Amino acid sequence: MKLAGQVAIVTGGAGAIGGAVCLALAREGAHVCVADIVPGQAVAGQVAALGQRALDVRTDVGRSADVRAMVARTLEAFGRLDILVNVAGVSSVGNFETLPEAEWDRVQAINLKGVFLCCQAAIAPMRARRYGRIVNIGSVLGKNGGNPRPWLDRAEQLKAGNAAYGAAKAGVHALTVFLAKELAAEGITVNAVAPGPIVTGMTAALPQTLQALIPVGRMGTPAEVAEAVAFLASPGTGYITGEILDVNGGLWPD
Ligand SMILES: NC(=O)c1ccc[n+]([C@@H]2O[C@H](COP(=O)([O-])OP(=O)(O)OC[C@H]3O[C@@H](n4cnc5c(N)ncnc54)[C@H](O)[C@@H]3O)[C@@H](O)[C@H]2O)c1
Repeated sequence: MKLAGQVAIVTGGAGAIGGAVCLALAREGAHVCVADIVPGQAVAGQVAALGQRALDVRTDVGRSADVRAMVARTLEAFGRLDILVNVAGVSSVGNFETLPEAEWDRVQAINLKGVFLCCQAAIAPMRARRYGRIVNIGSVLGKNGGNPRPWLDRAEQLKAGNAAYGAAKAGVHALTVFLAKELAAEGITVNAVAPGPIVTGMTAALPQTLQALIPVGRMGTPAEVAEAVAFLASPGTGYITGEILDVNGGLWPD
């Protein structure tokens, strides 16, 4: 067990990918704070069933007071913080020209500002022990401009990721490399995993026409994303920082 006795916070831990990450870390021996805006007790129960301690902390990652409380409660319960995985996020679909300003703001507040706030709050307890692993969930949509032919079929684009989502995830990638450098000498690594289409509620309406473009020939699973996260969260990866690790079935090799 590579993470025996370590403590992790997983935002969005009640969701599909977040839940898989919680279990992957628990299987390696970590105690887990399941932080989500919706109840996380089902995942917390599964972590406990694996023999690890779990906290279920209701958190809106877009609110700094919530985020500070999330870290404080974790430290109170477990006394340390080794791993932060920023999974919380929302999807957003449609074309650029008609994207409402309020939707732009909603997506940035959760998908980008939420990652900023959580990373910032995790630095002090990690620095105190000169050890930390931060893993942010980005997206292929932060790299590839999304749907390769949004002009072809308006109905298709109404179900495909939009520029607000892609810009927020590109922001997550940039934040990751900036913070990686800032913390490089402190024993704290900062990396991202950038998934392609993964089978979760978020992609339930993804058109078959877009799924058919994935070279591996299928969508990915939450467990496949969690595997990459668990790798980057492990102690042996101290020389990997500022990496954006693609888990996208070959959709956008770069
Ligand atoms: N599913 C995919 O194909 C895919 C691809 C690339 C990236 N991602 C990213 O992976 C992450 C997880 O997505 P998922 O597919 O598991 O979806 P999901 O909806 O199952 O999980 C998202 C979780 O985030 C939580 N959340 C939403 N707003 C929140 C907030 N303000 N504060 C705290 N928690 C909040 C939700 O309650 C949910 O549990 C997201 O960041 C998403 O953008 C998903």
